[in-house]
Amino acid sequence: MTIFVIGGQHGQLAESLRNLKDERLHFVGRPVFDFTKQETIASFFKKYKLSLIINTAAWTAVDAAEDHKEEVYLVNKDGPAYLAKLCAEYHVPLIHVSTDYVFSGDKHSPYIETDPVSPKTVYGVSKAAGEVAILKAQSHSIILRTAWVYSAHGKNFVRTMINAGAKNHSLRVVGDQKGNPTCSDDLAWAIMEIVNQIIGKKWNNHWSGIYHAVGTGDATWYDLAVYSLEQAEKYGQKMPTVIAIQTKEWPTPAKRPQDSRLNTDKLDKIFGIRLPDWHKSVEKVVQRIFAI
Ligand SMILES: NC(=O)c1ccc[n+]([C@@H]2O[C@H](COP(=O)([O-])OP(=O)(O)OC[C@H]3O[C@@H](n4cnc5c(N)ncnc54)[C@H](OP(=O)(O)O)[C@@H]3O)[C@@H](O)[C@H]2O)c1
Repeated sequence: MTIFVIGGQHGQLAESLRNLKDERLHFVGRPVFDFTKQETIASFFKKYKLSLIINTAAWTAVDAAEDHKEEVYLVNKDGPAYLAKLCAEYHVPLIHVSTDYVFSGDKHSPYIETDPVSPKTVYGVSKAAGEVAILKAQSHSIILRTAWVYSAHGKNFVRTMINAGAKNHSLRVVGDQKGNPTCSDDLAWAIMEIVNQIIGKKWNNHWSGIYHAVGTGDATWYDLAVYSLEQAEKYGQKMPTVIAIQTKEWPTPAKRPQDSRLNTDKLDKIFGIRLPDWHKSVEKVVQRIFAI
């Protein structure tokens, strides 16, 4: 059983999968496997007999993406499309991860998988194009759209807030964008639940397609900041004053969706999986941050 996880040393989700210490999982990342160099993808297929691939790798720097369109497309669309084509040729099921940023955020209720995509950023457009290309190339594909990913490792909002809270008496945080905070450890767990079902049974064609896989419960960035900092306070960090501001007071090169909440009923219905409440997972992550 050779399950390969694509994602390097610095990837949050790849690291969460690595932390599971599941002997079936093997890891590959740059420079051995690089989405911008298709020859590395092809030689990877020639080298290994693969049972399943989990792709956690992506260009995730949403603002920087606005100025690097060509490379972003290689990493988020063309590379995964080529990967899916090879998966089809070699009969390897593919689990791929996408994003809530495929939506504009104008629906104002949780999106379901069949809602039309309407990305407003280069990152979102590239990820949406990646979804379409993968589903076109490979019938044995499961695409998990996740959101607002955080963990005790890597670059993420929870760690940024705790670091900023340690250095500042007050923080201004956007309070008018809504989403579903998702712990990468919970997503890793959900992925392995799916893997176990794929391995335990014959491939079921109903599995192919897109699923929303996010933490249970929604929040604004302000809510997530306050809750993370309240947890940090338990470990002796002083609580700063947190001020909720509007998106227009924090301009960014890429326009974020106002409300990208995702409905996760399909993941529950098809695979019996529901990710934990984000509050519980933030508690665990903050505990781990202070234990490191
Ligand atoms: N982070 C979020 O808030 C968020 C939200 C919604 C969806 N997602 C999606 O969730 C998935 C996992 O995100 P994450 O937070 O774990 O991302 P991350 O921490 O930013 O890690 C991205 C990974 O992609 C790898 N990568 C980047 N360019 C590559 C290339 N050209 N070839 C091969 N690998 C490359 C990086 O490798 P190195 O280690 O070498 O840098 C890194 O391991 C992604 O598909 C992302 O789009 C994330």
